[in-house]
Parts: sequence; structure tokens; C-alpha cells
Amino acid sequence: MTEEKTTGLSRRRFFKWVGGASLLAIGGQAFFFLRSCIPNVLYEPVKRIKVGLPNVFPQGHKFLSAFRIFVFKEEKGMHTVSCVCTHLGCNVQISEFSQPRKVKHGDEEVEETFEFVCPCHGSKFRADGTNYCGPAPTPLPHYKMEIAQDDGQVVVDKGEEVDKNARLKVEA
Ligand code: FES
Repeated sequence: MTEEKTTGLSRRRFFKWVGGASLLAIGGQAFFFLRSCIPNVLYEPVKRIKVGLPNVFPQGHKFLSAFRIFVFKEEKGMHTVSCVCTHLGCNVQISEFSQPRKVKHGDEEVEETFEFVCPCHGSKFRADGTNYCGPAPTPLPHYKMEIAQDDGQVVVDKGEEVDKNARLKVEA
């Protein structure tokens, strides 16, 4: 009788152990499956970029190909324009005029010395980024700029578009 009891208990214990181990294995597999759905790395491009101290930028423009932006430094301050054509994403280029041209910006007439041209399908943009020719449906965006508190470098925030007239005031 004692032997039967012992055998019954050990069988129950055995099945309890097998059940617990199975649950643990299923739980572990579920955890690793769900974990594999979450990437370890975010593939989003970096939006806030340090591009250097203001004094490394010449008067005029500088093309930063790695970040696909033009950084302009003029009397009024600095601003950044995307070089990504709003049609299908080719890099636009700056085309300098041989002579300044007067162009209308709304009611205002301004003199421009260059325009942006897309080599892919011929879209053209005014110096302020306004699309005026070709298939590009919208203007080139301007991005927010600020000075980093820690080291004084210019920061371009590609996650935040600003008005085309916005300027970052810097020492000349
Ligand atoms: S990608 Fe620029 S015009 Fe088509």
C-alpha cells in the first residue's frame, strides 16, 4: 500500500513537472518570437544634425551631401534648404545666373543670383525654394536651425520645417 501511494505521488509530481516545463518552454518561445518582431536598431535617419561652427561656413552656400542640404550664410543670417527634389527625390543643384534676375515672390519683386535645378526631370525652384517649373509639386523645405548650447555648433533639425524667411542670426 505504501508502495502504491509512493508511485501515485511520484507520477503526479512527474506530470506536474512536465506540465510546468512545457508552459515554461511555450512562454519562452512566445517571448523570443515577440522580441524578434522588435528591431534592435532604429533605421530612421537622424533628424538633428550638428554641421559645424558658424565661422566654418563661407558667405554664400555650402552643400552638405551627406545630409542632403544646402546651408546658406548671408547678411541676414543662416538658413538651410533641402536638396531633395519634391518630385521623386533626386538631388537638386544650384544653377548660378550669369546676371542677377528680378523675380516675383508674391507681391514682392526680388533679385536672385541662382536657382535650384533638378537634373532628373527638369524641375526648377526659385532661390527661396519655391517650385515654378517642371513636375515638382511643392517647394523645397527649409529646416529649423539653432546654435547648440554645449559647443556652439550649428544644429539643423530636419524634423522641423520653418518658413522660407526664417534666419538664424550669427556673428559674421
Ligand atoms: S525628381 Fe526632380 S524633377 Fe523629377
